[in-house]
Amino acid sequence: MYASVIEELSRIGLVPVIALERVEDAVPLAQALHAGGIACAEITFRTAAAAEAIRRIANEVPEVCVGAGTVLTVQQAQLAADAGARYIVAPGFDPAIVDWCLDRRIAVFPGVATPTEISMALAKGLTTLKFFPAEEIGGTRLLKALAAPFQQVRFIPTGGINAANLATYLALPNVAACGGSWLATKALIEQGQFAEITRLSKEARVLVCEVRGESKEML
Ligand code: 3PG
Repeated sequence: MYASVIEELSRIGLVPVIALERVEDAVPLAQALHAGGIACAEITFRTAAAAEAIRRIANEVPEVCVGAGTVLTVQQAQLAADAGARYIVAPGFDPAIVDWCLDRRIAVFPGVATPTEISMALAKGLTTLKFFPAEEIGGTRLLKALAAPFQQVRFIPTGGINAANLATYLALPNVAACGGSWLATKALIEQGQFAEITRLSKEARVLVCEVRGESKEML
């Protein structure tokens, strides 16, 4: 279960970070991402609609691997898992959330920014970690520096990533996927611009394929 989520997110190479105000937008949003070749979505607990949005995507667009983001408490992790979230993403390393997920065999990606936090995650057996906030903490330079001591770790850098700098992250061997809100911004969702979300998704997937030397025929 855990391994299959990591595999799926790594294959896609992108994790759209979503803040949804209206639950009605959840299904069209997931469909728009999917149409653009991105079969995953991290629905953040920054809005009250999060749990119900996760539930709708899990039930109505099951081909999209839905997870919960900005999970700051065990209670939110519980709400997310009950709604059908297949993974939990947190901005920082909270041992209580990590333990709760590990006990239930739910994939968890805690945020790390320092070698100490990476060591704490490794001690829990986690080797795929959110790297947050990527651009502010040193971006690709820091990721390169971390590659030598932490050879078994793969990162999901998030924070300040967009179409312009995406390729520089994806080119690093210790990057599993890149997260970000640029693929489906609050404004685009609120304005119902789902075709634009599909376009941005395709654009990013093309970059993933180009950087990895993969065929673009499936897009
Ligand atoms: C997150 O929660 O992962 C970030 O807020 C996303 O960062 P971005 O908005 O800079 O993409």
